Amino acid sequence: MELLITSLSLFTLLAIIILIATRGRPMRFFTAFGDTLMNLWTNRGPLFWTALTVLLVLGFLFYFYTPPQSWVGKAQPIAFSHHLHSGVKNIQCEYCHPYVGRSIHPGLPPVEKCLHCHNYIIANHWEIRKEHNYYDTNTPTPWRKVNYLAEHVVFNHQRHIKKQVQCVECHGQIEKMDRIKGKHFYMGFCIKCHRERNANLDCWLACHS
Ligand code: HEC
Ligand code: HEC
Ligand code: HEC
Ligand code: HEC
Repeated sequence: MELLITSLSLFTLLAIIILIATRGRPMRFFTAFGDTLMNLWTNRGPLFWTALTVLLVLGFLFYFYTPPQSWVGKAQPIAFSHHLHSGVKNIQCEYCHPYVGRSIHPGLPPVEKCLHCHNYIIANHWEIRKEHNYYDTNTPTPWRKVNYLAEHVVFNHQRHIKKQVQCVECHGQIEKMDRIKGKHFYMGFCIKCHRERNANLDCWLACHS
């Protein structure tokens, strides 16, 4: 019903506009409209190329000029790179995230752990001095969280790691990322894998508190 009223009023509005624009001779509109269509059709070649160029240019701009943050991930207080540490230097995930298989909160490494190495490696690097600052002032490094899960979902790494679900299946190839982009984990993502692996699908018992 509402749809009918809206389309009727839009139609009336359109009719009024045509009447005003053609100063009371609506047929002019239709001849003009027909002429325009004919013109468009005779010029279809150039029009096609123009449209294609415009689309390509827009696509190009969209692809190359989207702000880098939208695909790189948040800046962190220390320019830490997983690509360098896990990828190039091959440090195991568990070295820095040791509680991932045991605790609900795998946690991020305390700055002491970084200093085990960085007291010796590039100790005077500007970013490493920041580590010393945090250490000396006893401040936990204010790492910014990048992964989100809805508040009422109980997620636990333990069960997954025990069943040999690899980090990469949920987090992507962390060892290739300088900055982690992170993501929102939605239920569909959990359910899809649980279905494939015959894991618990009982939402309320398993995942929702
Ligand atoms: C040298 C130490 C180190 C190693 C090795 C390491 N990480 Fe990290 N990880 C960190 C630090 C520091 C952060 C917090 C800063 C950041 O997000 O980049 C972090 C953050 C993360 C986060 C994002 C946490 C969040 O939600 O905010 C994930 C996921 C993660 N690491 C997974 C991995 C995986 C998978 C590996 C192995 C491929 C790995 N890490 C190896 C130190 C390390
Ligand atoms: C097991 C040893 C080890 C640990 C632990 C470690 N790093 Fe490193 N880190 C390295 C090595 C090796 C390099 C490369 C040094 C070089 O470029 O010569 C490096 C380089 C860096 C750089 C310089 C990157 C650049 O752009 O040049 C930063 C910043 C850094 N690490 C931060 C951290 C932070 C923060 C932690 C703790 C979460 C940490 N590292 C833990 C070994 C380690
Ligand atoms: C089944 C999917 C899954 C697997 C497998 C998985 N993770 Fe996670 N991880 C998550 C989810 C979901 C979160 C967000 C949890 C939250 O915000 O409470 C998370 C968060 C994290 C965090 C941030 C924790 C924090 O305290 O902020 C780290 C670090 C992490 N994962 C490391 C790892 C490592 C290392 C592995 C492999 C050994 C791994 N994860 C395997 C799903 C997974
Ligand atoms: C890549 C595959 C995979 C993904 C993604 C995954 N899971 Fe799982 N999950 C499993 C497997 C396999 C088990 C079975 C563990 C077992 O049998 O002990 C499991 C078990 C669980 C359990 C324990 C169930 C029980 O029997 O008590 C919970 C809770 C759980 N997952 C929650 C989640 C949530 C929440 C997410 C999404 C953030 C998620 N899972 C994403 C594979 C996955």
